[in-house]
Amino acid sequence: MTDQSRSTLKGLFLTFEGIDGAGKSTHIQALAEAFAAAGREVVTTREPGGTPLGEKLRTLALNDPMDPLTEALLMFAARREHLVQVIEPALARGQVVLCDRFTDATFAYQGGGRGFDWQVLQQLEAMVQGQGGEGGLRHPDLTWLFELDPVEAARRLAGARVPDKFESQPAAFFQQVQEGYLRRARETPARFARIDAARSREAVWEAVRAAASDRGWL
Ligand code: TYD
Repeated sequence: MTDQSRSTLKGLFLTFEGIDGAGKSTHIQALAEAFAAAGREVVTTREPGGTPLGEKLRTLALNDPMDPLTEALLMFAARREHLVQVIEPALARGQVVLCDRFTDATFAYQGGGRGFDWQVLQQLEAMVQGQGGEGGLRHPDLTWLFELDPVEAARRLAGARVPDKFESQPAAFFQQVQEGYLRRARETPARFARIDAARSREAVWEAVRAAASDRGWL
C-alpha cells in the first residue's frame, strides 16, 4: 500500500469486552496481525491505561479499595487522557485502534457489578467522549463482546495469575457485570458483535474475524 492510499484510509476504533476470563486477549493479538497483513497501521492499547498517567491510574483502580464514584471517576480520567493522547490522534492518522476494554466496561463493572448509577455514568461518558468524530460522542465503530458463563470464566482464570481487585470478586459479581454488558448491547445493538466464547478457540476466532470481514475491513 502506498503512503498516499494509507493516508486516505478512515481510522477504525475497535474495542473488546467481556468478563474476566472470557478469553479476549489472544484474539486481539490475532486481529492486530490480520489488520497489519491487510496493510493497515494498527495501534493496540488498553483501558484503564494506554498512557503513562493512565497506567498509574490503572494501578490505583485495580488494587486500592475505594468509593464507587471515585472508582468510576478514575476510569473516566484515564479514558480522557487516553482519548486525547492516543486514540483521537491515531484515528486522525487513519490507523486501526484495537482497545482492550473501553466505556462499556465502566457500565458493566461499575454500573452492573457495583450497582453504580447508570445515568451518572452516561453523563460522564458525554463529558469525556464529547469531542469525537463530527462533533458527536466518540464511540467505538465495533465492539466484540465475549460472552461466557461466569462459573466457567472463573475456572479458566483459576491459578493463571494473582487476581486483582475485580478478578477476586465472586461469580455473582460477574453475573451482574455480564448483565451490564448485555444492557449496553441492547442499547446500541448494531455496534456490537456478540461472541459465544464457550466454543473452541478456533471457532471463536472464526467468529471474531468474520465480524471484521463482513464489514469489509479485512
Ligand atoms: P483486564 O482488561 O482484564 O486486563 P488483564 O487481562 O491484564 O487483567 O483488567 C482490567 C480490569 O479492570 C477488569 O477486571 C475490568 C476492570 N475495569 C473496570 O472495572 N472498569 C473499566 O472502566 C475498565 C476499562 C476496566
